Amino acid sequence: MASSKIHIKTISAETTHSVRHPVLRQGMAVESCILPGDDLKSTIHLGAYNHNTLVGVCTILNNPKNGPFTVPNGQIRGMAVRSSSQNNGVGRLLINEAEIQAKSCGFMLLWMNARKGASDFYLKMGYRIEGSEFEVPIFGPHYVMKKRLL
Ligand SMILES: CC(C)(COP(=O)(O)OP(=O)(O)OC[C@H]1O[C@@H](n2cnc3c(N)ncnc32)[C@H](O)[C@@H]1OP(=O)(O)O)[C@@H](O)C(=O)NCCC(=O)NCCS
Repeated sequence: MASSKIHIKTISAETTHSVRHPVLRQGMAVESCILPGDDLKSTIHLGAYNHNTLVGVCTILNNPKNGPFTVPNGQIRGMAVRSSSQNNGVGRLLINEAEIQAKSCGFMLLWMNARKGASDFYLKMGYRIEGSEFEVPIFGPHYVMKKRLL
């Protein structure tokens, strides 16, 4: 699968579930795919499509108060690419589009609680680790990672 065949568009919160579930919530109830803030008007959900098949998703939360940063910022959540489509550039396209959307929202910074296993991906996308590793129950070790956009 060439990443040139992929197109990114905004989708509903519920549409993300078909990718979030197998990739991020495997073996858990589908309801576990609902993330806080999913339904806020300011939340942007991106879907990566290979023709009509949704192969990747990414959510941007407008997170001015709840995160560790004080400048206008967005938080990436629910970043997931179907296992059969990984390592084909889909994640890169999603992050690139998330950064475009974030800049147009006036966010100066994007950040995420990155799973340790995905941290090298985010490093390649220009994100940097902030602080120490921490444990998220069920999901394991994480880092806060951030990238200044403006
Ligand atoms: C992490 C994830 C979103 C990356 O998406 P992807 O489509 O596979 O990534 P890409 O193909 O765009 O990769 C871009 C670059 O990052 C590298 N990369 C991707 N995933 C990586 C990983 N887990 N560790 C190290 N490098 C990785 C690729 O090799 C590629 O490198 P290159 O530019 O030198 O060729 C995807 O693998 C995934 O959904 N993983 C499981 C769920 C997960 O961990 N989500 C993140 C939660 S915080």
